[in-house]
Amino acid sequence: GGACMDRIRADGLRVITSPDYPPYESTDDQNNIVGFDVDMVNALAEEMGVKAEFTGQGFDGLIPSLVAGRADLIAAGLSVTPERAESVAFTDPYEETINVIVVAADDNTVTSAENLSGKTVGVQLGTVQADMAREIEGADVRDFNLFSDALGALKSGQIDSMIVDAPVGEEYVKVHSDVKLAGEMDGGSKALATQLECTDLVAELNAALATLQGNGELEAMRAKWFTE
Ligand code: ARG
Repeated sequence: GGACMDRIRADGLRVITSPDYPPYESTDDQNNIVGFDVDMVNALAEEMGVKAEFTGQGFDGLIPSLVAGRADLIAAGLSVTPERAESVAFTDPYEETINVIVVAADDNTVTSAENLSGKTVGVQLGTVQADMAREIEGADVRDFNLFSDALGALKSGQIDSMIVDAPVGEEYVKVHSDVKLAGEMDGGSKALATQLECTDLVAELNAALATLQGNGELEAMRAKWFTE
């Protein structure tokens, strides 16, 4: 029994994400959603014998959409927080990472969060980075709907810095020679999220995750997508 698996087995697993956060998720030139989270969820779905269907939307609306029952799963490089755990159920974590500060390549004024006092800090609306930036004394926080828009603003000199999950910062630096990493900040765990009542789905996802961790498949996907 359980609240969700019967329906998911019949109709498929509806996955939502905000595809602006490579290497977790982005869109390719044919507008397909691709990335580590996509490969991981497809592999989990295969283990579970269900079919996953991805839809993109703004990060800030992901939890409201899930809670409203418009999706079964969030896969979005989503950080586990106590506040979020009041409205969604998290699977076991699939990684631990720190955050990084990203600045223009020719900016030599920033080596840590303290240096962001008096500077503009770009983040994505509704993220843990948006909260972290607001805790930096004197920082002037700018919220963007998409992290990719914040990166555009940094590259064009409209903002001084960004805070992103370390794998994303490393991906930026690999692709964009005009930005660099300029300091580290605390991080945390990432997990998939389901509706609170979908305990059967969480149990199946956790079992499948353990399988992919045990057989090395998850590690192979990390090697494919992450610069390390
Ligand atoms: N890890 C951060 C959070 O959970 C940022 C996630 C942003 N993800 C995305 N797909 N844009 O708040």
